[in-house]
Amino acid sequence: MNIQVAIIMGSKSDWDVMSHSAEMLSNLGIQHEAKVISAHRTPDLLDEYCAGLQEKGIKVIIAGAGLAAALPGVIAAKTTIPVVGVPLVVGSLDGLDALMSIVQMPPGIPVGTMALGKPGAINAALFAAAILALTDASIADRISAYREKQAQKILESELD
Ligand code: RP5
Repeated sequence: MNIQVAIIMGSKSDWDVMSHSAEMLSNLGIQHEAKVISAHRTPDLLDEYCAGLQEKGIKVIIAGAGLAAALPGVIAAKTTIPVVGVPLVVGSLDGLDALMSIVQMPPGIPVGTMALGKPGAINAALFAAAILALTDASIADRISAYREKQAQKILESELD
């Protein structure tokens, strides 16, 4: 099976959080690759990587970044493959800067924006899975099973 989802992050320091996207995709049996590529530190490498996405068969991109967080928007500008952005909690504004940068894309180039940090990284994978599930019944089944497990945990909750 081809790699279907690319996880891109602006720095290796983002991996602690973005690894949760990778873990969720693995749990759902979705092939993915993860790369550190920065929009401002390695712009030429980002150009080159984005140019190859279509040919690789990538169907959804998850992009995580902190601070001014240009990465998801720049990737979205370079491809029509859907981009899911994860704002990361870095620096003195506690992620508000990244959230605003990613969610406030000007009209014409959309980035689907998730919650800050780990919840966003997990949901980015689930959102990517939901997109893939539109044309892949086995992924749809695995999402349903995951939801069933979540519901079961609530139903079995007992308080001391
Ligand atoms: C952003 O700057 C990265 O996405 C990261 O969240 C942040 C800080 O990067 P480092 O200074 O830790 O490499 O580009």
